[in-house]
Amino acid sequence: MPIQPTEKIWHNGTLIPWEQATIHVISHVVHYGSSVFEGIRCYGQPSGAAVFRLPEHMQRLLDSAKIYRMAIPFSLEELCAGVVDTIEANGIAPCYIRPIVIRGYGEIGVNPKGSPIEVYIANFPWGKYVAGHGGADVCISSWNRLAPNTMPALAKAGANYMNSQLIRMEADANGYAEGIALDVNGYVSEGSGENVFVIRNGVIYTPPLANSALSGITRDSVLTIARHLGMTVIEQSIPREMLYIADEVFFTGTAAEVTPIATIDKIKVGDGNPGAITKKIADEYFGIANGLKPDRFGWLTPVKVNPAVAAK
Ligand SMILES: Cc1ncc(COP(=O)(O)O)c(C=O)c1O
Repeated sequence: MPIQPTEKIWHNGTLIPWEQATIHVISHVVHYGSSVFEGIRCYGQPSGAAVFRLPEHMQRLLDSAKIYRMAIPFSLEELCAGVVDTIEANGIAPCYIRPIVIRGYGEIGVNPKGSPIEVYIANFPWGKYVAGHGGADVCISSWNRLAPNTMPALAKAGANYMNSQLIRMEADANGYAEGIALDVNGYVSEGSGENVFVIRNGVIYTPPLANSALSGITRDSVLTIARHLGMTVIEQSIPREMLYIADEVFFTGTAAEVTPIATIDKIKVGDGNPGAITKKIADEYFGIANGLKPDRFGWLTPVKVNPAVAAK
């Protein structure tokens, strides 16, 4: 879906016109992928709109920056306020929010020390991310996820998404909606932009972070919801073939939300339809996000915007 421009982008604490949020081609980030970023959703509510798990996302941005020795000159509170200000200035909800921290124009050497840190926050409308009505058709990627001690998987860094692009492009070229990558040891890791959950005999499994998976905020939300609903959840390494014999498999992610998987390598997951546990978790997730169920975990930050699409 083409990007739909909005009016303003937050840049280092100031709202500037969308068209002016540009960088020089010799900026460090263009050459070496030196950026860390976030993806956040703001949902329509019965009265207004709210950002889902804003502080957790901005804390992960600070964590990603810390791993790469990027000193962000804004506090967690200032960054969260920047997101709210941007959404309210543009007056658009529901929307997707993209905070990004880059190494800008300074020096051309690989050492980023002499290139300034620039912080931007943009927001725009964005709908469904993983295609497939009633469940996505996915494959196991021939590409592995990042190996430990190469590119840090816990940092949501721009450069990591070169690997994600390989996974996603291969899936697309072969007619699949998405690919699931294994880690370098052959265990299930994650999708190109989603965490993976597997259900068998009533137990919910997801790979631990040590299997090169991003510490997904939606992953954490699903773990919290499942435990709250009294379900058994185990974080453990998952062999590839467990995906083929699972009763239910679903993706989680800010963009993907909770997306049921219908087939993997053309093998039906269960009967090919979204399963009961997936539906129960998705119901709770969307219920909280859209303000139709109590915000029992304190996940919503209200913004003063009239939602374009009323929550259903
Ligand atoms: C590689 C990868 N894994 C998992 C996720 C899910 O993370 P979250 O739920 O925080 O969006 C994302 C999305 O950002 C991602 O890019």
